[in-house]
Amino acid sequence: MTQYIHNTWYPLTWARNLEQSISRHRVIEEDIVAYRDTKGQVVALRDLCPHKMAPLSIGTLQGDAIQCGYHGLRFNCTGQCVHVPGQDRIPPSIRVHAYPTWENMGMVWIWMGDPALADETAIYDLPEYRKDNYSYIEGDSLRLEANYLNLADNLCDPSHVAFVHTTTLSNANHGIVPVHHEVEGSKVTTWRWILDSPIIPIFRGLKNYQGNVDRWHYYHYYAPCIAIIDFGSAPTGQGAPEGDRSNCIQMWACHFITPVDKDTCIQHWLLVKNIPSDPDIDATLLAGLRTAFNEDKLVLEAIQKNENKYPDFRRTRLSIDASTLKMRRIVDKIIEAEIALAEPETTELLARGIAQ
Ligand code: FES
Ligand SMILES: [Fe+2]
Repeated sequence: MTQYIHNTWYPLTWARNLEQSISRHRVIEEDIVAYRDTKGQVVALRDLCPHKMAPLSIGTLQGDAIQCGYHGLRFNCTGQCVHVPGQDRIPPSIRVHAYPTWENMGMVWIWMGDPALADETAIYDLPEYRKDNYSYIEGDSLRLEANYLNLADNLCDPSHVAFVHTTTLSNANHGIVPVHHEVEGSKVTTWRWILDSPIIPIFRGLKNYQGNVDRWHYYHYYAPCIAIIDFGSAPTGQGAPEGDRSNCIQMWACHFITPVDKDTCIQHWLLVKNIPSDPDIDATLLAGLRTAFNEDKLVLEAIQKNENKYPDFRRTRLSIDASTLKMRRIVDKIIEAEIALAEPETTELLARGIAQ
């Protein structure tokens, strides 16, 4: 059985996708029904009626409440049952789990763990998303038939770029440049600089640069499901490696990953950039990134098939894998800590004959 981190904010879907109508979602193998109430607030409930286990998502909205499509039980936004057809008394114990949600950076975030621990100030935020002189392009919800950690692996890994993204994010000399990494709590940063190199295809024409550039890629991974790739270029010799970004193209490819189940995840991505919005430029960037992320999808889905086919296969480890191995260790450790934390409670319930 796949274990997941529970006490964390996961991306649920783009805020633009949620309306005053029922939608179904799946996060870490839990089925969720979501909608906006009449005030526009997001409601996310477990998609399981406590009566006879019908999915609430086959029901209907009655004002702010959701009505089960089987016998008409109604639940309010907090998951409390507020109506039982043909019965006056409603036992307060009839309720469904309501997940805390929050909106930030165009995304609806959902807390899959203990609601008492949900702290919206811990949700990832990129300040440049809102800053003047910056703009952003909201991308897609790319569904991958691949485990979310394989996608996270890909997003901590600058080494694949020279071989997978030759027409968009790279050019030939990219593959021979060393990669560095650093771990800080549950964050892993992996980076590389490519000095005195031709500009990458998707940056061409954005600024009037003559000649070569110094390029950087910083892959910031926040366990378990956020990867922010800060990538940019500045003319060679203008001090970008020493920190001078006064004349540069800088972009952040933000990846918010929803683990659906063991073999499936959804990659929500958006691009923040220090280039003003422009319909033509934005359309070209969107198309370029869409191409690039579909190139990753092709590789990751093929890997997933091989993983399922050869579950005991032992992979070769290389020095370029150092940060991705640490990334996986961080996720494993958080899961182990959550399990350990839950154990005394389980033991107590077992002692009282409640859990089995
Ligand atoms: S299963 Fe939902 S009301 Fe009966
Ligand atoms: Fe990639």
